[in-house]
Amino acid sequence: MQKTVLITGASSGFGLEACDAFLAEGYSVLAAVRGGATRMPLFADLFARYSGNIELFELDLLDPASIDRLVTTLESRAPIDGLINNAGYGLFGATEDVSDESLRLQMEVNFFGTFALTQKLLPSLRKTKGVILTVSSIVGRHALPLTGAYCASKFAVEGWMESLSAELKPYDVACYILEPGGYPTGFGTSLSWSEPHLQSAYAAPTKGYQILRENISKQNQGKSIRPVAQKMVYLLSKRPSGLRHLIGSDALMTALFGKILPANLWHNIISLVMNKLQRKNV
Ligand SMILES: NC(=O)c1ccc[n+]([C@@H]2O[C@H](COP(=O)([O-])OP(=O)(O)OC[C@H]3O[C@@H](n4cnc5c(N)ncnc54)[C@H](OP(=O)(O)O)[C@@H]3O)[C@@H](O)[C@H]2O)c1
Repeated sequence: MQKTVLITGASSGFGLEACDAFLAEGYSVLAAVRGGATRMPLFADLFARYSGNIELFELDLLDPASIDRLVTTLESRAPIDGLINNAGYGLFGATEDVSDESLRLQMEVNFFGTFALTQKLLPSLRKTKGVILTVSSIVGRHALPLTGAYCASKFAVEGWMESLSAELKPYDVACYILEPGGYPTGFGTSLSWSEPHLQSAYAAPTKGYQILRENISKQNQGKSIRPVAQKMVYLLSKRPSGLRHLIGSDALMTALFGKILPANLWHNIISLVMNKLQRKNV
């Protein structure tokens, strides 16, 4: 029987690529995007190739009413088999420079909204003994300086998913955390920086980090994001063991060092290297 997957943040990057990859595997795809049908042009090619197997839905994780509307719409249909919590963005910058409002928005999208949507879809996922996959990041495992708000949102996601995974085991609902390294998606352009105040002690390292990120983005240009989407399909279809799954050579390397080196040493190395790189670029 054809399986149905709901993908959040389907308008761009990993989410859009995941729509394509799941459709290619014969899934029925419910693509959740901000703006609903107004984003149709982004999906013209997928609708042309897979019409009947893909539908667009409005979802803004900042708006609880939008989450409720989507859940209500889905309740009148056959229960979904998979949920890909992919929507998210990064808020970077020094802790001293982060505004309360921007911090709350970051947590609202990456954690609270994602939690609320999943919570409301659990009855459906229990019925199908489905799969929940939440996209975290390698920085949801090893935090970097000047990215505290984003790291916190991904650490929150990881703690919650680890708990949920155990909670749902008796119901045969599988949970996965996907931890990508750097990939060329819309992430870089939607990145929100906490602009340092004029007298901020962090103005120079923040500028340095912005330049460092631009350089890394240039190096990543041309890197295919298909493997990330394929990994999502693999996890949902094959349901392998293990909660956390890395993707990308940078993520794998970081996690490897994090495993073989004593935690304090690895933390000190990351701090030293990142702080040096951030200052070097100024
Ligand atoms: N690319 C990387 O290097 C990287 C690495 C590690 C983890 N990640 C994670 O991967 C996930 C996907 O990001 P991406 O790299 O594919 O970036 P992307 O191309 O910018 O895609 C992000 C998606 O999230 C959606 N989104 C943002 N705010 C939303 C909201 N309030 N409600 C609903 N949807 C919202 C965006 O929709 P709009 O088009 O409406 O803005 C977009 O579809 C994110 O969770 C990100 O943290 C990315």
